[in-house]
Amino acid sequence: MNRKYRKTIIAGNFKMNMLPGELKAYAESMKALVNRPRWCETVICAPFVDLPAAIKYLNKEARISIGAQNLSEHEKGAYTGEVSGQMLRDMGGVKYVIIGHSERRQYFGETDLTVNEKVKAALACGLQPIICVGESARQREMDLTAPLINYQVRAALAGVDEKQIKSVVIAYEPIWAIGTGNTATAEQANEVNRYIRSIIRDIYGARTARATTILYGGSMNDANAFELLAQPDIDGGLIGGASLVPEKFAKIIFAANQE
Ligand code: PGA
Repeated sequence: MNRKYRKTIIAGNFKMNMLPGELKAYAESMKALVNRPRWCETVICAPFVDLPAAIKYLNKEARISIGAQNLSEHEKGAYTGEVSGQMLRDMGGVKYVIIGHSERRQYFGETDLTVNEKVKAALACGLQPIICVGESARQREMDLTAPLINYQVRAALAGVDEKQIKSVVIAYEPIWAIGTGNTATAEQANEVNRYIRSIIRDIYGARTARATTILYGGSMNDANAFELLAQPDIDGGLIGGASLVPEKFAKIIFAANQE
């Protein structure tokens, strides 16, 4: 973390977990466990149908920011089953949206092109994208991590201007570390985060690169958070499994909230 230049964010990704009716109790636990963090912003990215309850309990009562996990790249129209950025905005209280999570790329056919369209759709209606990039185990073995990350970041940001980039958060999520218990080592994660920052520098300049929040995600938990967050280029986490358990999530927030 480097709080002098950029915001620290601890974002939970509920994925397809947590019923709307379970959020009141979750919010109460978080309120009891976390004393309004001063040094980091806490976010929960919830399923679409959970968002009203998330806004009511997590945001209004527990002061947690709210994000969605996806949005349509289209503005409106004949796209059965989809949810637009404007719809999310209109709920009043959705601030972030995860875009291009590896599960969306793997199971729902999202490509670097659709990721880019979704990033632009989110920015156009004032939502802050949390863009996920990351390599598979095989790609890492083949030494393709750097070129792949370079391509994913540049493709996601194509057409994003110097003003819009200020609203963008990037999350490095190695696919081999997601939900597997195999966290990247703190050094491995920091190396890629630093590389992502160098790409941002190349496109937008040093000042913007220094101000961009770059998260790590992939089996981050209450046991490894301190070490990961101590790295200079890891500005927070995107947390799946551990965000579902208030006691674990609160410990990660605590780790990010050290003075
Ligand atoms: P995990 O998920 O923390 O359960 O590994 C992270 C993510 O997919 O965002």
